[in-house]
Amino acid sequence: MQLLVLFVYLLPWIASSFANVEKTIFLAPEAIKISQHPPNLETLHLEALTPFNHTLHTQVPASFPNPDSRGTVSWFLLDKLQQEQRHEVRICWTATQPTDFTLDTFTLSEVFGTHELISSLASYSETRLNPSIRPSSKRAERSASVLFLRVVATADYYTTNKTLMHNVPLVDADIILDPFILNILPQSLLPTGLYLTIIAVIAWYLSGYIWHIFSEIASPDHDKKRR
Ligand SMILES: *[C@@H]1O[C@H](CO)[C@@H](O)[C@H](O)[C@H]1NC(C)=O
Repeated sequence: MQLLVLFVYLLPWIASSFANVEKTIFLAPEAIKISQHPPNLETLHLEALTPFNHTLHTQVPASFPNPDSRGTVSWFLLDKLQQEQRHEVRICWTATQPTDFTLDTFTLSEVFGTHELISSLASYSETRLNPSIRPSSKRAERSASVLFLRVVATADYYTTNKTLMHNVPLVDADIILDPFILNILPQSLLPTGLYLTIIAVIAWYLSGYIWHIFSEIASPDHDKKRR
């Protein structure tokens, strides 16, 4: 049992050792009614993640920190979450693009009630020219647990190359939404978890078997039989 607990603690390390990872863990809020008539959430043209469409390959703009900002802000929509369930959002990027990421989630009311957040979201939304306006559904409103995800990307390198010091290239990143199973284990770690559990069970029985063999060999009865 202690072995299993240890494995559960080690799982995130195993999963995160291949690239740079930053993450945030949150409980999905209660579902709310969202208007389907424009202007609505779709009008913001944010890239969206849902539990069914959980990985986004994207390019995130970054910049060096200055007295006015920590970096470049991008906004994403986390949609159709399972309300009151624990989820994790990870951003993974290659070590060849040294960047600091800060992830935060906000409810709709937090964003629309905070001047700083709404103006940041509005200016990000303006930069996203998305001419393909999806046909809106016939329903007047839908009900969903949604959150805004704010990603702040800060360039974290120094080079003598002036071009690179003035224009920070876009950072190739994967953003992954991962619901937790029973609020304990991220879903994507389930195969690794099962694998380690099977190994642990086999090791348990194998060690018992080996111990049995050794104790047989060491027992006085064994000696008698051999004589
Ligand atoms: C600076 O970096 C840019 C972008 O990677 C590259 O195209 C350019 O050749 C570099 N300049 C020098 C002097 O290395």
